[in-house]
Amino acid sequence: MGHVLHGRRAEQAALGALVTDALEGRSGALVLRGEAGIGKSALLDWTAERAGVDGVRVVRVTGVEAEADLAFAGLVGLLWPLQSRLDDLPEAQARALHSVLGGPAADEAPSDRFRIGLAVLTLLAELAGEQPVLCLVDDAQWLDRASTDALTFAARRLGADGGGHGVRGAAGGVRRAGAG
Ligand SMILES: Nc1ncnc2c1ncn2[C@@H]1O[C@H](COP(=O)(O)OP(=O)(O)O)[C@@H](O)[C@H]1O
Ligand SMILES: [Mg+2]
Repeated sequence: MGHVLHGRRAEQAALGALVTDALEGRSGALVLRGEAGIGKSALLDWTAERAGVDGVRVVRVTGVEAEADLAFAGLVGLLWPLQSRLDDLPEAQARALHSVLGGPAADEAPSDRFRIGLAVLTLLAELAGEQPVLCLVDDAQWLDRASTDALTFAARRLGADGGGHGVRGAAGGVRRAGAG
C-alpha cells in the first residue's frame, strides 16, 4: 500500500515510537485529536501498516455515530476477529465476552461490565504474551460508552504494569478522539 503522508513527521515519530515501545515490551497509549479531514485516519492507517510489517498484531475498531448509543457495538467490532480466542479465557470471562458477541454460547444479555472489562484485559494480555499488540480506535468520540469503558479499563491496567499481567509483548493503545 504505502501511505505517503506529507508534513506529519512529528506525529509519525510519536506513533512509530509507540510501536517500537510495544516491540520492546513497553506499554503506551496515545490520543490523536484534530478536526475532520486533517488526517487522523490516514495516520492510523500508516501506523497499522508499519506495526504489521514490524510483527505487531493490530486489532482495530472505528466508532460509528449511528451506533454511539448501542452498548458494546464497538467491542463487537473489535472482538469479532478474536472469537476463537475467547474460550482460552477463564470461564466466567469467556461467558462475559460471549454475551457481548451473542451467538449460541451467549446465555444472557451483557450485564456485568466489570467482568467484561476484566475479560478484555485478560484477552489483550494473552495476545500480547504471544506477540506485541496495537489496539487502534478510530473515531473514538463515537464509540459507545460501554465499549469505551471496557477498553479504558483494560488500557489503564496494561499501562500500569506492563509485566504484571504477563504482558511481555505489551499493548500499545492508540486512540483517536476529537471532532470529526
Ligand atoms: N499528511 C497527509 N498527506 C497526504 N494526504 C493526507 C494526509 N493526511 C490526510 N490525507 C488525506 O486527506 C484525506 C482526509 O484524511 P483523513 O485521514 O480521512 O482525515 P480525518 O480522519 O482526520 O477526518 C484523506 O484522503 C487522506 O488520505
Ligand atoms: Mg477519520
